[in-house]
Amino acid sequence: IDISKLRASTGGVITVDPGYKNTGSCESAITFLDGEKGILRYRGYSIEELAEKADFLEVVYLLIFGELPTASELDKFENDIKANSLVDDDVRKILEAFPKNAHPMGVLSSLTSALTAFNPISVNIESQEDMYNAIVTILGKFPLLVGWTMRKKKGLHLNYGKKSLGYVENLMYLMFKQPNEEFEVNPIIKDALDKLLILHADHEQNCSTSTVRIVGSSHAGLFASLSAGISALWGPLHGGANQAVLEMLEAIKADGGDTKKYMAKAKDKNDPFRLMGFGHRVYKNFDPRARIIKKAADEVLGDLGISDPILDIARGLEKEALEDQYFVDRKLYPNVDFYSGIIYRAMGIPVEMFTVMFALGRLPGWIAQWREMRLRKEPIGRPRQVYIGENERAFKAINER
Ligand code: ACO
Repeated sequence: IDISKLRASTGGVITVDPGYKNTGSCESAITFLDGEKGILRYRGYSIEELAEKADFLEVVYLLIFGELPTASELDKFENDIKANSLVDDDVRKILEAFPKNAHPMGVLSSLTSALTAFNPISVNIESQEDMYNAIVTILGKFPLLVGWTMRKKKGLHLNYGKKSLGYVENLMYLMFKQPNEEFEVNPIIKDALDKLLILHADHEQNCSTSTVRIVGSSHAGLFASLSAGISALWGPLHGGANQAVLEMLEAIKADGGDTKKYMAKAKDKNDPFRLMGFGHRVYKNFDPRARIIKKAADEVLGDLGISDPILDIARGLEKEALEDQYFVDRKLYPNVDFYSGIIYRAMGIPVEMFTVMFALGRLPGWIAQWREMRLRKEPIGRPRQVYIGENERAFKAINER
């Protein structure tokens, strides 16, 4: 249906749907999601199979270009990304100028936007080459920005990556390499990171992805659109939930571990407290990503020999919520972020970095959605409104107000 024609034929009807709860913004061939049945597929492949069998870079390629890569396609892709893994030294100086206590998401969004100044790539969308170059440029530099953001937080020296390492191994090197220490890839952490990044890689028209598409629809560049997406992801109702979950679990532990007290607070309509990591706009049965992550959290903590009381509190909350009428009636289940923070913590990643890890995972989804939007030549995103303000008024001079 052509909405503009429909509007003309119905005398100017505009639909108002706050939060776009039932309004599609585009047609997309990237991610399929059935919230009732708990199904999530990237380009037709189930999230369960991808998390089990693929590595992150294969999924990046799949999301962006639509097919799983052959060995030679993957090799070329990886090499092109590696060729873009350095940044101008002034980017490092910008990072150093941020206060140490700056939130990593603000830093990441600013640095991503700053890349537009150092890499003024103008993408001619008729040119597949231009688009490809912009994509491998950001995929190459983003892990460095993530690693540096974390090192800055921890007060560590800013290092460059290692070209002999794969994408996820190099990310680990950027984040975890200690001065004067031989770096070794811990396979347990590598596997868990691959899984976490794959599970976060796309989720159709969520808040940050819609932001990337709508900013990009004005033909703003890829990096500027991504920077806006990072800001959208930051909020605690979206990607920021993984940080909020850990802080909530810590607060419950510090308060004596009384999960029932916090369940009661979450149900009290006069209390703004919400059970972070519970509920989802589209999953009304279970979040398939949460199931995989819950299992991964058990495995990683077991393999690393860590026993974390926070995990017990999380399990307790989940059990109580599943049996509680308030949560059952509203179909509130743990979402992807309920368990991811527990794994990140076990890896030694600071809490404030959790949403940055989410951003790194979501990067291919944002890129794929931006590319699809540009290739389909979608019109500029420009929602309508129903005006509810004053009628026309005469201006009053300042001494008459
Ligand atoms: N704790 C307690 N009650 C909740 C929660 C929660 N976490 N989530 C929703 N509810 C209640 C609401 O109060 C509302 O109750 P009511 O019908 O009695 O008024 C009902 O469930 C429906 O909630 P809405 O806020 O209308 O649902 P919406 O789809 O707008 O919000 C959201 C979804 C934002 C995820 C919400 O569930 C929430 O705030 N969850 C906590 C934050 C979180 O975990 N966010 C991460 C989402 S996943 C992601 O972005 C990767």
